[in-house]
Amino acid sequence: MNKHIIFFTTFLCVIALATAAKPCWLGGWAINVVNQVNGTDKGHVYAHCKSKNDDIGFHKIKYQHSTTWKFCENIFGPTTLFFCHAYKGQHQELVFDVFTQDTIKPLCRELDFKANYWRCSWLLRDDGIYLVDRREKGKEKNMKMHDWKHRA
Ligand SMILES: *[C@@H]1O[C@H](CO)[C@@H](O)[C@H](O)[C@H]1NC(C)=O
Repeated sequence: MNKHIIFFTTFLCVIALATAAKPCWLGGWAINVVNQVNGTDKGHVYAHCKSKNDDIGFHKIKYQHSTTWKFCENIFGPTTLFFCHAYKGQHQELVFDVFTQDTIKPLCRELDFKANYWRCSWLLRDDGIYLVDRREKGKEKNMKMHDWKHRA
């Protein structure tokens, strides 16, 4: 057999294996919403997250636990948007976006192109809702994004 054909076939197999091993073409996203509420509402945190096509469900999140889900983006014109309705104690809640193309994705994307999944992490705390800013490798920062809203 022609050397070039052997080389080319091997090359195609390597590409096929490499992409099959990855669940998503360019790496997918793993989103997690972590309960760090440690004050009077400790143990009373719930979240219901969804996108247009995916409903993650209503979850009670234990202290220091999280609710996590993964998804793959369309390479061509990604439009995925996730939002959560979070509840803390009896009187505080908030509906907020957890993944948007223009504002949130650039903040939580890690500078690691070998990652199978990029993590986007949200922290629910007593004083509000934080996003883990992963723009600088090795210099993660927790950024407060929202205050809780009081329910009457
Ligand atoms: C509660 O959590 C906040 C931030 O996560 C931390 O700064 C604080 O020290 C914690 N308080 C207690 C009592 O553990």
